[in-house]
Amino acid sequence: MKRAIYPGSFDPVTLGHIDIIKRAAAIFDEVVVSVLCNHGKSPLFSVEERVNILKEVTKDITNVTIDSFDGLLVDHALERNADAVIRGLRAVTDFEYELQLAQTNRKLCDRVDTIFLTTGLDYAYISSSIVKEVASFGGDISKFVPPYVAQLVYAKYQNQ
Ligand code: PNS
Repeated sequence: MKRAIYPGSFDPVTLGHIDIIKRAAAIFDEVVVSVLCNHGKSPLFSVEERVNILKEVTKDITNVTIDSFDGLLVDHALERNADAVIRGLRAVTDFEYELQLAQTNRKLCDRVDTIFLTTGLDYAYISSSIVKEVASFGGDISKFVPPYVAQLVYAKYQNQ
């Protein structure tokens, strides 16, 4: 049984992330989508909220589970007995950082390999930051996130 971990901030999860999750779930027996508890950033959604949102948007994909982690990704990957880490590549601009991350992780633990999936062309321009910026000005984010997520994002900005 092959298990992959797909780590990220997912603040919020976008259609691009969901595309990667579905495609990883078609390759691996199990995909664990894991939310980083990033203390440094001030996220729009708490870790618990992001975990619940991810559970809702992946509820129909039977081999996907949702988790969260603190600390090093390699430690989490080992704890979860993962065979690979999945990361999405949207454009060349992502590559430098992702390569650095993958190589650092392999130096930290050579059992943890990273597999890159290229984001679907329809979603390549989407980022969680852009979604938040558009929503903060009341713009239409319906092409970037599922309706359920859009509703929650708008609610956050209405309450600020
Ligand atoms: O969605 P993101 O913010 O691009 O995801 C980044 C993530 C979570 C993959 C990365 O920041 C991470 O793995 N953080 C945990 C700390 C760690 O292990 N860093 C790698 C060594 S630099």
